[in-house]
Amino acid sequence: MKDKKITTATTVAGVKFDSCVCNASGVKCTTLEELREIGRSDSCAIVMKSSTMEEIHWDDGPRSYYLGEHGMVQSNGLQNLGYETYVAFSKKLIKYGKPIIASVAGSSIDANVTMVTAYQKSTVDLIEVNISCPNIPGKSQVGYDSKQTEELLFALLNLGCKPMGLKLPPYFDPAHWDSMSELILRYNISFITCINSIGNVLVIDPWERRTVIKPKKGYAGLCGEWLEYIANANIRAFYDRLEGKVSIFGVGGVKDGISAFTKILAGADALQVGNAFRQGDHKIFSTIDQQLEGMLEFHGFSSIQEAKGQLLYI
Ligand code: DHB
Repeated sequence: MKDKKITTATTVAGVKFDSCVCNASGVKCTTLEELREIGRSDSCAIVMKSSTMEEIHWDDGPRSYYLGEHGMVQSNGLQNLGYETYVAFSKKLIKYGKPIIASVAGSSIDANVTMVTAYQKSTVDLIEVNISCPNIPGKSQVGYDSKQTEELLFALLNLGCKPMGLKLPPYFDPAHWDSMSELILRYNISFITCINSIGNVLVIDPWERRTVIKPKKGYAGLCGEWLEYIANANIRAFYDRLEGKVSIFGVGGVKDGISAFTKILAGADALQVGNAFRQGDHKIFSTIDQQLEGMLEFHGFSSIQEAKGQLLYI
């Protein structure tokens, strides 16, 4: 008997992906050379760095600190080349033949409207609006404030036909999953990316008796494997609430086929890889994808669609 054909091809907000593992915004995706490397790799999409109206560059530091291979803390202060550069890059990335995802992190509603409008007219396929950047001094995360989130979503209504999504912070309380899900459905958000780094953790060097990160008195975003179970909980909580109407990118501690598979079981349609790409190389996408295929086969699933959300309860 011929083996059942297994595929990790997936669909996010109606856009087709040949496999289901891509890069996460923020990791080695700021310059054109970095984006081309992702284009040449087996990443199923090219996710660009979160953009602002103008280029941002900082000379101070340190802004990142590795916690072994398992993760890191960072406060990069949204360093990026400015949205107009990423609009131009998106044209140069078409030749890789995979979906291109813009990331928008404006410091005001007007800035977000301007950038989303520009990306709507560009050659990107999906627009991820980042409402969870924890690393701007003096700014609260929009995603932790439902009033600010609603004002933003209202302003972003009807700016174009390309699917728009939200990059969400981790939530730790069912009331927040409820209120955010209600807004996501009310404003027809097409996809969510959960989760961003855990904001405002503090790593202390006991021997130097001081912080390890320069800005914000050492407070920084926690990335990597530490996020895995918090990400799983958020994916599942949103999957349970969004009535199958909203696609989900799972991010946070995806490092192999097992950590990818558990996010598919929780309800993700596709995965984004941050720390494991940062600390590894471009081969990570195909490695995870092949291992994920093995996990699908082990459980008798032939596709991501079949496995998605199929978590069992004891
Ligand atoms: C940065 C960090 C984030 O978690 C994010 O979503 C956007 C930007 C940064 O530090 O640059």
